[in-house]
Amino acid sequence: MTQEQFQDALNARVSTIEKVLVSALPKNITMQKTIADAMEYSLMAGGKRLRPMLMLEAYRLFGGSDEAEIEPFMAAIEMIHTYSLVHDDLPAMDNDEYRRGRKTTHIVYGEDMGILAGDALLNYAYETAVEGALKLKDPANGLKALQILSRKAGVYGMVGGQVVDVELTGKPISEEQLDFIYRYKTSALLEASLMAGAALAGAAEEEIAQIECVGRLVGLAFQIQDDILDLTSTAEELGKPIGSDLRNEKTTYVSLHGMREAEEAVEEYSKEAVEILENLSEENEFLDQLIVSLIHRKK
Ligand code: FPP
Ligand code: MG
Repeated sequence: MTQEQFQDALNARVSTIEKVLVSALPKNITMQKTIADAMEYSLMAGGKRLRPMLMLEAYRLFGGSDEAEIEPFMAAIEMIHTYSLVHDDLPAMDNDEYRRGRKTTHIVYGEDMGILAGDALLNYAYETAVEGALKLKDPANGLKALQILSRKAGVYGMVGGQVVDVELTGKPISEEQLDFIYRYKTSALLEASLMAGAALAGAAEEEIAQIECVGRLVGLAFQIQDDILDLTSTAEELGKPIGSDLRNEKTTYVSLHGMREAEEAVEEYSKEAVEILENLSEENEFLDQLIVSLIHRKK
């Protein structure tokens, strides 16, 4: 696939995912309209849609062919991701006013509605996924995907990582603590995306474990690149102010190891991820290229 073909394929996937998200949003809203508006505002703010994209590609990789089956789960993971961003931006956490090029949800709707929009997205994510699971030809695959999503988003996943991140902000941290934060706060949802896609395609436990490793490596590379961009990008490109880690006195991979080592780590982890994929009996060229493209991502 040439770079241009890859870019076209990527854009096509983003617009498919956005259609899935729009149609998943709650309908029949009466008096609770404010929360439906806040959910839509945050969900439809134009992120990279990486997590649903990874889920769909893992589903395809392991032979999944009925894509309507996976759509509720793709919507669910993006809702979980979006809730985490809405809450992360709250005054009690990172206190950010901009995200994805616009005002954060609590700035537009107030802190109370910001909290509730996150709560609503999280619940609605599971509501959507459970409805999807009930309609599957093999609901056991849906149950497995739900087990993965709920575990990786929670105390043994993203929330666990966020807790340690918040607790250690402004304090010196060890290599081991930084690794824990990245692995849980960021990798966990990327692992869940790939693993749930695999589970829905009916992949074997061993295959789900292999794709979990891919997610862990992609997540580490992704978070280190996030640290790099916070120092080297521009607010226009990122859609939010740069330098927030310094302002929030956060230890990052870059502050611990320096820029050059950080850049090398992004490349190394991404290559290791692609190697695991190449050693599988199945193949998905787009997925390989997607992971490589993240090494040089600018936002
Ligand atoms: C940016 O994703 C997000 C991360 C790099 C992960 C950061 C982790 C948190 C904010 C966890 C918060 C957890 C709780 C429980 C509040 P992205 O670059 O894919 O964003 P995009 O969707 O806007 O492209
Ligand atoms: Mg944060």
